[in-house]
Amino acid sequence: MKLAPNIYNPSGISLDSIESLKDIYYSAESYDTDNMKKLAGKQEAKKVLQNEPNIDVDRITVCHFYKHSHPYFPHTDFHTDEKENIVIPLEVNNGLNPYLVIFNQWFDGDGRTWTFRENLDFKYNKPLKGRPYDFDIHGKTEEDISDTLYKYLSHQPKKYWFGLSGTAYEFKVGSFIQFDSKKIHATSKLLCESKLGLTIRYRA
Ligand SMILES: [Fe+2]
Repeated sequence: MKLAPNIYNPSGISLDSIESLKDIYYSAESYDTDNMKKLAGKQEAKKVLQNEPNIDVDRITVCHFYKHSHPYFPHTDFHTDEKENIVIPLEVNNGLNPYLVIFNQWFDGDGRTWTFRENLDFKYNKPLKGRPYDFDIHGKTEEDISDTLYKYLSHQPKKYWFGLSGTAYEFKVGSFIQFDSKKIHATSKLLCESKLGLTIRYRA
């Protein structure tokens, strides 16, 4: 299986579009979930993204906003026809930019979330209790995560990230981060109050 390469474009989205996308999010009357403040907004967001030469609007299959204040567990997002994820940072509140860590390791099946020691349930990306290394993931190493990468992930014990390697991309307004939906990814520890992003997924 051939994975789509990671693409980081540090200035790929215009500030006009970012303002319009934030307007869509903040003018919503309610949000889908309490802790993530998710909002589905495919049609409206697609209209804004039509103006962006780096975004292939015709391939969009999923599109939602999310705002959160806590780091998110490592997970994958493939379900049926998703091929790539695109993360578009919209806002970072009161603090330093966080990072999105994309691991080199990937999981072939339906999207999953590794919850380490916690017993949790999710509607999508069903939980697997434990760390990614303990499951049937592809490309795992037999080593601790590097110190360079652990710097971004030190909100969890180092052993939880055993067997993983990868790259941290800055969640910076104006940039976008594109990667294969089967790749394991996680948010860095947060040094800000909250962040707002738009996630889109392309079909193959
Ligand atoms: Fe994700």
